[in-house]
Amino acid sequence: MILFIDTANLKEIEDAADWGYVKGCTTNPSLIAKEGLKQKDVIAKITTLIDGPISAEVTAEDYEGMIEQGKELFAIDPKHIVIKLPMTNAGLKAAKTFKELGIPTNVTLCFSAAQALLAMEAGATYVSPFLGRLDDNGWEAIKLIEDIVTMKMNYGYDTKIIAASIRNTEHVQQCALAGSDIATIPYGVLKKLIKHPLTDDGLEQFRVAAAKTAALGK
Ligand code: G3P
Repeated sequence: MILFIDTANLKEIEDAADWGYVKGCTTNPSLIAKEGLKQKDVIAKITTLIDGPISAEVTAEDYEGMIEQGKELFAIDPKHIVIKLPMTNAGLKAAKTFKELGIPTNVTLCFSAAQALLAMEAGATYVSPFLGRLDDNGWEAIKLIEDIVTMKMNYGYDTKIIAASIRNTEHVQQCALAGSDIATIPYGVLKKLIKHPLTDDGLEQFRVAAAKTAALGK
């Protein structure tokens, strides 16, 4: 499963890009607003930090506005930019148009298998089911990923699943076991993925042993 970072914070992106296993970035209007900078400036900077798909979300709610805004965002860096569109009829219509124009899309705010089916039928490059927000509201989030994976297999859709709204490392493991193509993960959770107390214990044991050997001299 490919790992993306779900943030618009440039320091976090720079740090994660350096680890070598984070291959893309997703943003949304809330993440952009947190940074207190213009969307285009943040997105342009992200394209210099990460060499992979970077989702930039439209804020227009009408089809024409989405197309205009999406084209502007795509022009920032056609090699990396993916246009993020909401799960609305206007958003799905825009996904179809962008496919015809050869512009990749990510249909976001997906909370049901039926919605994912529509995004796949519209020809979206990516669809983003939200796990955390389902869990927060008492739904079984991982079942949604399993169902979308099954639909993809049944019909051979090439839309890629980006598991989003990830809250913890367990979510990441569950998504990988369910067969999600990608998980987009907040910086705090990404940092925790490598952590295990037995790894820390093992490192300490090896450090002590290596010091003993080093004390013998060359
Ligand atoms: O970018 C979409 C998604 O990952 C948002 O997550 O934490 O606001 O539910 P969250």
